[in-house]
Amino acid sequence: MAPSTIHLTVNGSARSLSVDARTTLADALRGKLRLTGTHLGCEHGVCGACTVIVDGAAVRSCLMLALQAEGYEVTTVEGLGDADHLGPLQLAFRKHHALQCGFCTPGILTTAHALLLEEPDADEARIREVVSGNLCRCTGYLPIVAAILDARSAYAAQAGAAA
Ligand code: FES
Ligand code: FES
Repeated sequence: MAPSTIHLTVNGSARSLSVDARTTLADALRGKLRLTGTHLGCEHGVCGACTVIVDGAAVRSCLMLALQAEGYEVTTVEGLGDADHLGPLQLAFRKHHALQCGFCTPGILTTAHALLLEEPDADEARIREVVSGNLCRCTGYLPIVAAILDARSAYAAQAGAAA
């Protein structure tokens, strides 16, 4: 089957991509746009490393076809901040040493970002429930949860300013 062109918004920029019918969103982001912050671990929806945000929802990009992203707004970890302008979650992860190898980190950051945009007052139990779908094999979840709790005030302030 011939490749198709899809049109989507990635990290605030309009993008057009030529993709095969079987190309996953993860592979399109990594291979076509070189957004390699989206990591691939299990490639079958279990580890959460590939999580990106699609129209506000945390989505496993290894389970979504690129064709299904037509017209959507996608945010990857690169859209949460950069080395010179870290976002509130990235700052909190650095402060709390909430990563070691960093393989799981992009997926946890995007998952937590989607959560705090919707629920800036999420409590520890809710945060633990949400990040339980993201597997971290080396840090342990204490600093990760502490960092997400710490970032809540920035999201609450943002939500208050937008209200
Ligand atoms: Fe997508 Fe593991 S790579 S959930
Ligand atoms: Fe290594 Fe989470 S920091 S897997």
